[in-house]
Amino acid sequence: MTSPSRTFFVTTALPYANGPFHIGHIMEYIQADIWVRYQRLRGHTVHFVCADDAHGAPIMIAAEKEGVSPQVFVARVAAGRKAYLDGFHIGFDHWHSTDSPENIALSQSIYRALKAAGLIDVRRIEQFFDPVKGMFLPDRYIKGECPRCGAKDQYGDSCEVCGAVYAPTELKNPYSALSGAQPELRASDHYFFRLSDPRCVTFLNEWTRGTDRQGAPRLQPEVLAKAREWLGEAGGESTLADWDISRDAPYFGIEIPDAPGKYFYVWLDAPIGYLAALQAHCARRGIDFEALLADPATEQVHFIGKDIVYFHVLFWPATLHFAGRKTPDRVNVHGFITVSGEKMSKSRGTGISPLRYLELGMNPEWLRYYIAAKLNARVEDVDFNPDDFVARVNADLVGKYVNIASRAANFVTRYFEGRLAPLPGSPDDAHERRAAEVAAEVEAAYEAREFGRAIRLAMAYADEINQYFDANRPWEMAKDAARRDALHEVCSRCLRAFHRLTILLAPILPATAARVQAWFATPDLRWDDLGVRPGSASPARAIGRYEHLMTRVDAKVLDALFEPPAASAATSAAASAATPASAAAAAAAPAAAPAAAPMPTITIDEFARIDLRIARIVAAEAVAGSDKLLRLELDVGEGRTRTVFSGIRAAYEPARLVGRLAVVVANLAPRKMKFGVSEGMVLSASAEDPSAPGALYLLDAHEGAQPGMKVR
Ligand code: MSP
Ligand code: ZN
Repeated sequence: MTSPSRTFFVTTALPYANGPFHIGHIMEYIQADIWVRYQRLRGHTVHFVCADDAHGAPIMIAAEKEGVSPQVFVARVAAGRKAYLDGFHIGFDHWHSTDSPENIALSQSIYRALKAAGLIDVRRIEQFFDPVKGMFLPDRYIKGECPRCGAKDQYGDSCEVCGAVYAPTELKNPYSALSGAQPELRASDHYFFRLSDPRCVTFLNEWTRGTDRQGAPRLQPEVLAKAREWLGEAGGESTLADWDISRDAPYFGIEIPDAPGKYFYVWLDAPIGYLAALQAHCARRGIDFEALLADPATEQVHFIGKDIVYFHVLFWPATLHFAGRKTPDRVNVHGFITVSGEKMSKSRGTGISPLRYLELGMNPEWLRYYIAAKLNARVEDVDFNPDDFVARVNADLVGKYVNIASRAANFVTRYFEGRLAPLPGSPDDAHERRAAEVAAEVEAAYEAREFGRAIRLAMAYADEINQYFDANRPWEMAKDAARRDALHEVCSRCLRAFHRLTILLAPILPATAARVQAWFATPDLRWDDLGVRPGSASPARAIGRYEHLMTRVDAKVLDALFEPPAASAATSAAASAATPASAAAAAAAPAAAPAAAPMPTITIDEFARIDLRIARIVAAEAVAGSDKLLRLELDVGEGRTRTVFSGIRAAYEPARLVGRLAVVVANLAPRKMKFGVSEGMVLSASAEDPSAPGALYLLDAHEGAQPGMKVR
């Protein structure tokens, strides 16, 4: 008896095409990819797609700055995606773009349907215009104080502090982030989606409380609570505001039909990009896209982060519903990844570069395992802690899981030509029963998206198997020819358990699972081989030559992962020969500056953006666990000291630095490193290889300079 086959349409949020992936993106993809692989193992059909979110003002402005068209700009970013996706075994069926013919056609047709439903209004509104730049200011380029909570320096569309969504004109004390100018109000026609229409409110009240095809709530409890708050349930009246979906030219986006000079706001066409990506995937596979999408049996599931809930549980379902389309079955929201407890910012990412992780030769499955171990079904942040990472991977994956195979294989190869003893005839063999029980529990955990629980259950089972192995002392059995059968049984049970563990972990460790499958020479791994359901049994019958499945993490490689780029250049060259010269690599891992070739010219204004200050080194010490870094405490005249990690250990005795002056880049974005946060950078002169003897000299200042003085 197997469960009836299901069909899924699964997406992750479409990343802005304004730069390479950061670790937050990778975490989202790993979560969704594990879920998708689990469903496929169950025998279900999954269409798993994503795309670049190409449109919008920030990308237009960034492209302009680089002197290329937005299309070229986006294409460059897109070209770097594959290295990350392949590197972390993220199995999207198709990667598309919102700047595509499919998305233009779908967005325009969905808009026409909303208009026909009487849900589009045109209103003349006053909007901020940058008199210096000569254009209406995009939301993100107007900053000011949140109208709801008063937080300073909030963007024009939503508040990162209290989550309020509003119009830029509601900001207090606005300024243009492009020119700094005080914006002027000018009138222009705008198109609105009438979300305040009672039909929308009624629909969303129902939809947000709905269930998926299995009868489970489609929103997590904390997400539903937020939605109800937005829907005004607490206070009675709906607080939903009509949604401004148009932007005036110049804008990189999709033209609004019959509205010259007007474009869809990027958040209108971005989620429609989910459908466009599915359509492109269907075209390649010869699948009828509209039929698949409209089929009530197709389950539409979105994985997103907690910052974009509003768009996905209000705008998006309403857009689909009133355009006469099927709405999502589930929206799965995850928290953010932090590094050693430190929040990362959208613009500067964290101390972990996913590409650097791969370049260092670190196993992508370590990260998949570690993230999975920390994930549950709630909207909780996930912390990457380097020491915990090393401990988990080494203790669990290598010490428990792989250990079973390496120990048992030895005997089976030596005494039984690699063949496993036949399966026990009796259906209520205690070992088989226990295996089925574990599998059922792990299945329930995956179903509930409790990946951490799935892993804890699997590892507890691995413990049991290791204990069973130890308790039977096969190394002693092997010395006694009369106990061959018993030895065979013990080792065969262990290897079958290992094969089952591999199926249980296959969604998380796809590459290892493939190698194990080849080792046992079994057909494709299937959930049904776990023995969860009556009549199914392990197909594991024999093994090939044992080859090491996974190595331990060397804690030193994590030091390299967390080193600042300049100091790490030498280390990475030594640690790994492979340095992919892809566009993404160039973008993510800045190379050391060439010694001779001059850099392109910059303007005095560009130079002025670098805040150089005189600092007094008040303390200096070696960093335990790093042979490159010194921890410096700097007085920059701010009434407190700053901590800066500097890769100058080879050149300077810490004690000799105390009291000296240095030049520090004071407005460098703080950088989370393994040993703490570095709040700036001290300048030094160096030869090509800064780690060579006599190759590095700290800049200092003539006596009399005071901490905090500006260097210009
Ligand atoms: N382009 C929009 C999404 C449009 S969906 C129709 C966007 N892009 S994004 O690049 O900023 O974010 C993409 C996804 O990454 C979002 O789900 C976001 O929540 C997620 N993350 C961004 N930073 C994150 C962490 N630090 N941790 C985990 N996920 C994070 O929003
Ligand atoms: Zn606020």
